[in-house]
Amino acid sequence: MKSTVLVGVQWGDEGKGKIIDVLTEGVDVVVRYQGGNNAGHTVEIGSNKYVLHLVPSGIFRPNALCIIGNGVVVDPKALVKEIKELEQSGINFTGRLEVSTRCHLIFKYHSLMDGLRDKNQKIGTTKRGIGPAYADKAARRGIRALEMLDLKRFEERFRNEVDFYNKIFSSHDAELIDANAEWKELADAAIFLKPYITDTVLTINKMAKAKKNILFEGAQGMLLDVDYGTYPFVTSSNTTSGGACTGSGLSPKYIDSVVGVMKAYCTRVGEGPFPTELFGDEGEKLRASGREYGATTGRPRRCGWFDAVSARYSCMINGIDKLAITKLDVLDGYKTLKICNAYNVNGKIVSDMPSDTADIAVAVPVYEEYPGWDTPTSEACSFSDLPENAKKYLQKIAALVESDIGIISVGPNRRQTFVVN
Ligand code: IMP
Repeated sequence: MKSTVLVGVQWGDEGKGKIIDVLTEGVDVVVRYQGGNNAGHTVEIGSNKYVLHLVPSGIFRPNALCIIGNGVVVDPKALVKEIKELEQSGINFTGRLEVSTRCHLIFKYHSLMDGLRDKNQKIGTTKRGIGPAYADKAARRGIRALEMLDLKRFEERFRNEVDFYNKIFSSHDAELIDANAEWKELADAAIFLKPYITDTVLTINKMAKAKKNILFEGAQGMLLDVDYGTYPFVTSSNTTSGGACTGSGLSPKYIDSVVGVMKAYCTRVGEGPFPTELFGDEGEKLRASGREYGATTGRPRRCGWFDAVSARYSCMINGIDKLAITKLDVLDGYKTLKICNAYNVNGKIVSDMPSDTADIAVAVPVYEEYPGWDTPTSEACSFSDLPENAKKYLQKIAALVESDIGIISVGPNRRQTFVVN
């Protein structure tokens, strides 16, 4: 396996947590490299269901080292809470987790800024402070994890930033930060996290040189990438495979393969264009059978037909070697399935993703119809077990996105996954 990057091909929520969990069997290191606790990676093992936000999904494999790389923005209080909850359910963290000294931190003022900004320009963010924390990083005023190692320095920096942000909040008649109350919790979090904070760039490079198997766990999806997604309706990090290098400190020459996860249909949470979105009963049917509610915010996800235009573009940018197609079982029982392979943009038929989000917003999907299947797929253990029309549907979407199928998932559990050769 060597170094593999796993990314979401669509707008996030493709079922990456589950695929990562399956791929981490035999993996030495699992690295998160972007995003923050806006992510919600769901892993179901037997009758237990876990939702991870910051901790890499490799934590369920006792031999895997988990790394939160420098490209991740970390809310210290949220990370402490997540570690404690997982420890309570029997997960051992000793020697298993490293957090990069270079991670930028998220504080309450970032979440409040998210709320303020969303009032003016509605993006529908998770309100976890992700965008404002990355903005501070780019503006060179962010506080990094290494500063938590020196409480005096950390406190001074934190209080200065609170002063800065409170001026902004008071000019908007918004809630102010109580620096004393926040600091008390942050100091506790810094003490708790100290043993985990280290220079992960060195660890990752050492592991790569020793030819260890490294899995890079992408969060969100390619269409939410700050450069290539439906800007400005995006998250604030590089969700593409390229982000694995900048977000971890490993050179691209060590990356051996890229796995792209996509649903057999499409979903999106938050605002922004979604050409194949289904409304009314049609959308509700897909939402109900796919249990499409956000793992982080609980928001109902917008649902629609498979969009090959955006997925093809995503596979190209990510350089997908193998596709993991999830939630095939959700399409069981449909008489007819639709796939969008072109957009009608103001009367012009285009098969490449427009770079102007305004064009995507007015795009009318051009659909091709395919016959569905009645036989349930959730018990299938191999490609040959699938109904003929399901096989044809999968082969069609793989051909349209110009990538090969590597894994199929037919249900939420670990065992409902199989490899396709
Ligand atoms: P932010 O990442 O909280 O700034 O939100 C920006 C956009 O990305 C919003 O539309 C969110 O709904 C979306 N988003 C962020 N994280 C996820 C995720 O893990 N899955 C799906 N959508 C996400």
